Amino acid sequence: MTLQELKQCALITDIPIMSDETIEAISKEIAVHHCFSVLEIGTAIGYSSLSLAHSHPHIHITTLEKDEDRYEEALRHKATLDPRNQVNMILVDAFEYIPSQYYDCIILDGAKASNQRFFQRYFPFLKQSGCMLIDNIDFHGARTEDIDHRSRQFRKMIHKLNEFESWIMKHQNVDVVKMNVGDGLLKITHKPHDT
Ligand SMILES: C[S@@+](CC[C@H](N)C(=O)[O-])C[C@H]1O[C@@H](n2cnc3c(N)ncnc32)[C@H](O)[C@@H]1O
Repeated sequence: MTLQELKQCALITDIPIMSDETIEAISKEIAVHHCFSVLEIGTAIGYSSLSLAHSHPHIHITTLEKDEDRYEEALRHKATLDPRNQVNMILVDAFEYIPSQYYDCIILDGAKASNQRFFQRYFPFLKQSGCMLIDNIDFHGARTEDIDHRSRQFRKMIHKLNEFESWIMKHQNVDVVKMNVGDGLLKITHKPHDT
């Protein structure tokens, strides 16, 4: 199995994975911030974590997944696609996991309606020089005014995503940049310390 085949496998089986453009943008941030340690929320079947590990042989990624079937499948892909043993896959609900270290990069790619709770739980574990990256902030271009016909659950998720974006943009202690990559990538960093 190659990474390309893993991507095809996810697309065929309808498992949501990051776009290539998003993985490329995250890769650049990993280089710019000189990241060694990465925490990802939302492994799915391992495409993003195994791709990032492949592009950056020096990094270590811990990735969390709460769905047992996806976790088992991700582990099978790790067996062939992680020759340097860079990726640590953990079967856990991210709301129960307690990190034992600080990270250079934290990627939020779990349930989209939970971004604010993920942020509050994990931002304290981001190193001062690190970056938090949040995918799908514009969720496939869905805007509040266009989604009347969608399910209640979908509308609620879009509402929560928008609410989080407004909330984080007003947050006093962080810098936020919205990148026009994939369907919106947010980059959140600590405000520099006063000198
Ligand atoms: C968009 S997919 C992740 C895709 C993956 N990052 C990739 O690009 O290859 C989101 C995943 O997050 C998982 N997830 C959602 N909420 C979670 C939570 N609270 N803890 C752990 N995993 C969670 C889902 O089960 C799903 O597999």
